[in-house]
Amino acid sequence: MGSSEVEIRSEIKKLRELRQQALLGGGPKGIEKQHRAGKLTARERLELLVDPGSFVEIDMFVKHRATEFGMDKRICLGDGVVTGFAKINGRPVFVIAQDFTFMGGSLGEMHAAKITKTLMTALEVGTPVVFLNDSGGARIQEGVDSLKGYGEIFYLNVHASGIIPQIAAIMGPCAGGAVYSPALMDFVIMVRKTSFMFITGPRVVKAAIGEEVDEFSLGGADVHSIKSGCAHLVANDDREAIELIKKLLSYLPQNNMEEPPYVDTGDDPERRDPELDAVIPSDPMKPYDMHEVITRVVDKGTFFEIHSNFAPNAIVGFARLAGRVVGIVANNPGYLGGVLDINSSDKIARFVMFCDAFNIPILTFVDVPGFMPGTAQEHGGIIRHGAKVLYAYSEATVPKLTVIVRKAYGGAYIAMGSRHLGADFVIAWPTAEIAVMGPEGAAEIIWRRELSAAKSPEERAEMLRRFTEEYRGRIAHPYVAASRGYVDSVIEPSGTRPMLAKALDILINKREVRIKRPPRKHGIPPM
Ligand code: HXC
Repeated sequence: MGSSEVEIRSEIKKLRELRQQALLGGGPKGIEKQHRAGKLTARERLELLVDPGSFVEIDMFVKHRATEFGMDKRICLGDGVVTGFAKINGRPVFVIAQDFTFMGGSLGEMHAAKITKTLMTALEVGTPVVFLNDSGGARIQEGVDSLKGYGEIFYLNVHASGIIPQIAAIMGPCAGGAVYSPALMDFVIMVRKTSFMFITGPRVVKAAIGEEVDEFSLGGADVHSIKSGCAHLVANDDREAIELIKKLLSYLPQNNMEEPPYVDTGDDPERRDPELDAVIPSDPMKPYDMHEVITRVVDKGTFFEIHSNFAPNAIVGFARLAGRVVGIVANNPGYLGGVLDINSSDKIARFVMFCDAFNIPILTFVDVPGFMPGTAQEHGGIIRHGAKVLYAYSEATVPKLTVIVRKAYGGAYIAMGSRHLGADFVIAWPTAEIAVMGPEGAAEIIWRRELSAAKSPEERAEMLRRFTEEYRGRIAHPYVAASRGYVDSVIEPSGTRPMLAKALDILINKREVRIKRPPRKHGIPPM
């Protein structure tokens, strides 16, 4: 063996030792603590996430440059974050996984530099990015360099928005300004019991306003998926979160220049569903579950609901129709009558914008009594929140298909994917009621004089019942709208799927370049 060969071998040995060191992150104790907390390590998470053998790590040997507060003695190869590229179900993706075992996954200058490098490359290559968050936030010892790092991450999150899908999973703490990276990404998945997100933690809350609250009641997965709407999906543990990420990616294109992946689902596009003819209750006030309509129309087993716990009066999610990905938007009469309120408007508008950015046709199912009345909603800004729905639908240039199932009243009729906002294909079931408002409210206005002449409350109630019925008889059908061409066709519910599949097959060729609009830098959505 020559001396140079000996040298190479010793260098390889050194490299292997360094790699081994990097693989241990913050060390065995930290790994043990992570497991005790019910969490997987960054590397274990990545191993579950990506296709076996596909992960190529970048920046494994990066170290921080801080010297203050004893930092010169606390070095960890990789600096508390694992980054690189891999494949998920055969499709390329960039990944970022924070390693809580080193300084609580806190973000310093070099840790941030690894993340921005990953985001930048993903953006240039046109590949989705998955960011597994598990961090104590800005690395306190690194001061303003940490803040700079966050700022640069936010900047890239914004510039990647609408170009590549960005998915954030919160798998541990996510506190302070750190929350704004997930907030700027497209989808946030939280793990129940081990993750939380807040701007200011319980201690500061107590000091500032005297309120006592624990981390999970302040910013746990249930809080964010049900109340704040900051989380789109919730998992019971790390493994489930990773499965959700993979499922989500299976509906998304790689970037805004590509189509979402086609999958032959084996479900016949011509399949009629006779059960749909009986889904709508004969009493127009009776609730039913719109999920049943959706799942019967789309390819079997493909509906993947997003944001399901937040504002359940609206439903959004992905599905396949004749193998093609569609974004589903619907009112759900099973909750608050399917009314549009502040939260459901935000939920719908954001989802429509996402679908539009990523070439995903939008399929809307309408059964909406209107916008939610009352001081809480008016004072909370239902006007500007509701306007987001109008804005998102009007701006969207992807194919827009709408099915009016039952009620479509007033401004909410317009907002929910009407032809007037540029829908390409609108069909109605014979049960559709398209009107300015509900029959009773309309009767109160039209026959106000007659009603005020009633001699007793009983007589008034009887008159109102009669007038309501008369109004319902005149408007509670889709044929006025169909006679004007606002509705393209009235169809039997059982034939909805074949009709939509045919329409989508044609509309899929719709292209933005063929839609004439004056150039502008950007519009100003009612945020
Ligand atoms: C440096 C940190 C850190 C941080 C945690 N650690 N957070 N080190 N900077 N931000 C270290 C701990 O000192 C500890 O080191 C190790 O990580 C593990 O933390 P523990 O506290 O032992 O873990 P746990 O009990 O699970 O608690 C996790 C935690 C807690 C809830 C995240 O550590 C915590 O409250 N940290 C501070 C969070 C914070 O205030 N961050 C700044 C937010 S403001 P040892 O050596 O003991 O192992 C912010 C501004 C960003 O981020 C602005 C962007 C615009």
